[in-house]
Amino acid sequence: MTQSGNSTAPQPAAPLHVAITMDGNGRWAQKHHLTREEGHWRGRVRLYDIVRAFSDRGVRYLTLYAFSTENWRRPAAEVESLLALAATAIEHDAPRLHEQGARLLHLGRKDRIGREIAEAIDRVVSMTGANTGITLSVAFDYGGRQDILEAARSLIRDGRPAESLTEQEFGERLLTRGLPDPDLIIRTGGELRMSNFLLWQGAYAELYFTPTLWPDFGPDDVNQALDTYAARTRRFGALEAD
Ligand code: FPP
Repeated sequence: MTQSGNSTAPQPAAPLHVAITMDGNGRWAQKHHLTREEGHWRGRVRLYDIVRAFSDRGVRYLTLYAFSTENWRRPAAEVESLLALAATAIEHDAPRLHEQGARLLHLGRKDRIGREIAEAIDRVVSMTGANTGITLSVAFDYGGRQDILEAARSLIRDGRPAESLTEQEFGERLLTRGLPDPDLIIRTGGELRMSNFLLWQGAYAELYFTPTLWPDFGPDDVNQALDTYAARTRRFGALEAD
């Protein structure tokens, strides 16, 4: 098991890759008599602590679902606020994560999020590219079906003969190429659905749903999710555990 951070206590088996749907910002805001936008901004605040909590427990890859291809359907003001939030995260959080040795990646389309943000993403990805700490992928303008569709399109464009195509080769055409499949997918906010997140990659992921709203999700919740994962038996479709 890979360990990082300064924790010396014995740890239960950690998932290599955790992916999170950060849901519940709007309801958190409503509960606190704030605007939905303020809920999203609050959702960013503890990002750094959460990344560190996963890293300290030995997680090597963390993927966060920040904006889906369907989120464009939200009111323009909310979309704008989420784009501004992404710009702020890149400006303020990325350098801090870089100092901690995190490698940052982006999953999703870059042609609709504005040139400034797209270029800032490229800079951050290249700045952190050689880092050896946790790999933090931010899914922004990401959709699982679109990811699969684009992979199929690129294979067809390249004239790839269909018969010998393997799952591994298909996976190399996805946005997540080079990343292991998620072992654990967490969804906060109490909804029980996938919402177009890592549909191919999550085929055998353990699912963990919590009613905790994303802005309330903290290091204790990270530990609880990882302890629950450690107690599960993964069989990957077989009768015995691997
Ligand atoms: C879903 O809550 C959350 C989002 C659409 C945005 C998630 C973004 C963050 C937490 C900020 C982090 C940003 C970056 C760039 C890393 P919701 O609005 O669907 O909540 P609701 O279900 O309560 O309405």
